[in-house]
Amino acid sequence: MSKRKLRVGVVGLTVGASHVKDYASSESVQEIVLCDVNETRLKEIGDKYNISKRYTDFDKMLKEENLDAISLAVPNFLHMKLSIQAMEAGVHVLCEKPMARNADEGRDMLAASIKHNKKLMINFNQRFLQECHTLKSVIDEGKLGDIYYVRTLWQRRRGVPWWYPLSSGKEIFGGGALIDLGVHVLDRAMWFCGYPDPEWVLGNTFCKVSKEEAARKGIQNFELDDMGVAMFRMMGGLMIELEASWASNRENEVITTRIYGSKGGAVLHRVVGDGNDSCNKVFLEIGGEVHDIPLENMKTTKMPNVRQAFLNAIINDEEVPCTPQQGLKITQMLDMVYSSAANGTPVKWE
Ligand SMILES: NC(=O)c1ccc[n+]([C@@H]2O[C@H](COP(=O)([O-])OP(=O)(O)OC[C@H]3O[C@@H](n4cnc5c(N)ncnc54)[C@H](O)[C@@H]3O)[C@@H](O)[C@H]2O)c1
Repeated sequence: MSKRKLRVGVVGLTVGASHVKDYASSESVQEIVLCDVNETRLKEIGDKYNISKRYTDFDKMLKEENLDAISLAVPNFLHMKLSIQAMEAGVHVLCEKPMARNADEGRDMLAASIKHNKKLMINFNQRFLQECHTLKSVIDEGKLGDIYYVRTLWQRRRGVPWWYPLSSGKEIFGGGALIDLGVHVLDRAMWFCGYPDPEWVLGNTFCKVSKEEAARKGIQNFELDDMGVAMFRMMGGLMIELEASWASNRENEVITTRIYGSKGGAVLHRVVGDGNDSCNKVFLEIGGEVHDIPLENMKTTKMPNVRQAFLNAIINDEEVPCTPQQGLKITQMLDMVYSSAANGTPVKWE
């Protein structure tokens, strides 16, 4: 059966280069068009993938190219503006995480997607790791039973992204480590648990480790969270604990999600950097004996990459796997943590 092929634009070509790479190897793509205000970047990626259609002006690209879809990989403060413009022009959008700087912006994006009947997918690419996909199947088969506690974290020892214009504070990013890294591990925890509604959260944010380094780099009054922590109580009693840091005093960088269920548990644990050590296991009790089962020994289907999943949803006219409703819920939960931190109180879900 011959399938429709799509004309896809990629806007913002730093992490956007990974979107270009996936589209360039996809049989679902007819043509790729590039857009970046930085001409050097535009030339570098255009030459690398032999793409001749290049724009420095987003509006001009939308007007001239009759695109089916775009990937939006620009700084967070532009997610709402450019995604809404694209959907108004009849273009589906794969928007990089976080969905937006805050829930107000996220709501407008969701409303535009509904109003213009365009797909809006959030690029929660962590879910598309094979180990996440396998664990999700194990959970959906009921092997872990009733999940009652999840601890999910992305902790760096020293990894503040100093190449970003961090002196602009929340204006560009909406926040620090929580919104940058926490968003990924909160999404995967929520996805494993079926995206329940929160009931309330107690959280705090810190900027304790990076201020001196910021000052050495000429950034005075550095204010973004270099670490954020939160404990969510979800409707029904499930607890989700979240930790994220750009900088903290620990031995290494780790991305970990640990799940406790009535019949079994699981861990996804990756040490980033030297050796890229990982440990992905399920813990079950079978016939009165406890067993540790590596996730790679468990049967599952193969996962498409996140970009192909977006294209498939357009071609088959199906719901995108990472929905704007989910993106918005994560953004609302992070807003709750920032609000709890600012006010020193627990915050209720509204
Ligand atoms: N999913 C992931 O794993 C992942 C990883 C890194 C970054 N991100 C997200 O991707 C987004 C971009 O991050 P980054 O690290 O690539 O940022 P970046 O600032 O390094 O790059 C953004 C690019 O967008 C371009 N740009 C800015 N304004 C533009 C405009 N109006 N039109 C066209 N191009 C424009 C810039 O010139 C730059 O090349 C952020 O939202 C970030 O959170 C996601």
